[in-house]
Amino acid sequence: MLDLIRNFCIIAHIDHGKSTLADRLLELTKTVDKRQMKSQLLDKMDLEREKGITIKLTPVRMTYKDYRLNLIDTPGHVDFSYEVSRSLAACEGAIVVVDASQGIEAQTLANIQLALEHNLSLIPVINKIDLPAADIESTQKQIMSLLNCSEEDILKVSAKTGQGVNQVLETIVNKIPAPQISETNPDDLQALIFDSYYDDYRGVVLYVRLINGQINQSDNLLMMANQTKALALEVGYLSPDMVKTKALNSGEIGYIITNLKSSAEARVGDTITLQAKPAQKALIGYKPAKVYIFAGLFASDSSYFEALKKALNKLALSDSTLIYEVEKSPVLGHGFRCGFLGLLHLDITTERLKREYDLEIIVSNPSTSYEVELTNKEVIQIKSASELPEAQKIESISEPWVEGEIVCQQAHVGAVIQLITQARGLPADIDYMQNLTVVHFTAPLSNLLTDFYDNLKSQTSGYGSLNYELEGFRIEDLVRLDFYVAYEIVEALSLICHRSEAQKLGVSVVKRLKDIIPRQQFKVALQAAIGGKIIAREDIASFRKDVTAKLYGGDITRRMKLLEKQKKGKAKMKKIGKVDLPPATFTVLLKKE
Ligand code: GTP
Repeated sequence: MLDLIRNFCIIAHIDHGKSTLADRLLELTKTVDKRQMKSQLLDKMDLEREKGITIKLTPVRMTYKDYRLNLIDTPGHVDFSYEVSRSLAACEGAIVVVDASQGIEAQTLANIQLALEHNLSLIPVINKIDLPAADIESTQKQIMSLLNCSEEDILKVSAKTGQGVNQVLETIVNKIPAPQISETNPDDLQALIFDSYYDDYRGVVLYVRLINGQINQSDNLLMMANQTKALALEVGYLSPDMVKTKALNSGEIGYIITNLKSSAEARVGDTITLQAKPAQKALIGYKPAKVYIFAGLFASDSSYFEALKKALNKLALSDSTLIYEVEKSPVLGHGFRCGFLGLLHLDITTERLKREYDLEIIVSNPSTSYEVELTNKEVIQIKSASELPEAQKIESISEPWVEGEIVCQQAHVGAVIQLITQARGLPADIDYMQNLTVVHFTAPLSNLLTDFYDNLKSQTSGYGSLNYELEGFRIEDLVRLDFYVAYEIVEALSLICHRSEAQKLGVSVVKRLKDIIPRQQFKVALQAAIGGKIIAREDIASFRKDVTAKLYGGDITRRMKLLEKQKKGKAKMKKIGKVDLPPATFTVLLKKE
């Protein structure tokens, strides 16, 4: 049987058609009836359909001729690159999808690199050949120079119309090797967890690839890195709905329903073995989730705090990378400081809290974590500027730096290099690949968080793409920048930045605050300061708003209604002293100038 199994995934840059191609494969192999086919079946969450991005991975088993094909769909976004790497580790081959109208982009490169590190057989596929803007010729040249392959190795398809997709199935069967079993201890169970989720009724469900051994229903399992024990309540595969089986065997991909209460107990990348006969070694590649981006989440009204806590608890059951702890802010009240894999992860989480839990939340500016060495040599990790100890106790502050690459057209290289240096980054090697240029660089993560990506898109007419990973922490000359509204400090706005950037940032934030905060009945001073020294100031002129004046007496109930409406509008505001602050105040860094 092993000879007839093919495990593969599809890697692509966002929007190059990975999910659409997967849909066509399901249809051709009759895994899903054409009439049942909702567009992009594998992207199950509503949010994913709407945003058009894959967040969750859903493995599917298909039958083609005598073969059993297991497809894992992978997320295309940089925030989830660890998940992608685990999916790759679960496969023997990968289809590399490149959009004929876009060519190779940064995420394609990063994923190809990962796939080559895992020794996967690659099948290059040029997609969207039906588009009038398709430039098959030059996309083909890019792929040939990148993968060192010949023209015949590259398939040309339209996932939309189905043209050429049959050939993809043939190539999977012929080119991707069958799984192999370890020769030393073939019976010892080693299964890789490449995804998991929490289901209200079933509990924690794990998606696994069996490298060696067998898992039967009712087996007592052990997660080797986490040392948690679990019971296999049910095992099976997805086609695309769950199909229960007696056992999962080596080489196979499937699901395990466990008795675990939270997905943090069985993390992606961990190795499952049997309690009764544990494997000698865990599979390589396990990394505990590390988050470097933090933001405060506060309920818009303090009476919703408990509801927010419950909702976060619930979300964390299925999202083991989501971490949070209580944070108290003088202005925003009780809330949570949460850690995220990146801005998309933050965005998805806040959107889910709004939609699935009907919560109105105020989000604070995202920031990275920092390492602070104290004068007594102790090193602490902080997640917001307000946690920074007094200046005289600090020896040094380090911030996270990333190593990345930007793929762009040659004409835009100058602008890209300027963008990198403006973000305090350091451009490194430049590679040329046909009509594409890859600029390698290092940069402080904090400067990539706000408008870097938007600027990159506008400087490269939309063609530039970015990918990065954490390189480590570097000591820099960092200072705390505070903001005052009507002479009162608003700690929720405090941030850490490089001394050389403080002045410019202070001026720009104060200007943006002036646009956000409405006029009050008195003049309001907005100030930025480093260590109590004011470096920027703007004033909001006073304004007397008499909402009922325009009613000229009028009907009393109408007058009451209007006053009530104004009161409600105020309920969403936060107060500092006597000044009303709208929610957008706290994400001022994300506001465009
Ligand atoms: P992520 O899930 O965000 O990583 O994107 P994806 O790579 O899965 O892309 P998806 O399949 O969602 O396709 C992106 C868009 O391209 C959709 O609007 C598709 O309808 C469209 N598309 C995909 N394949 C083709 C094709 O062959 N031709 C044309 N014209 N459009 C296509």
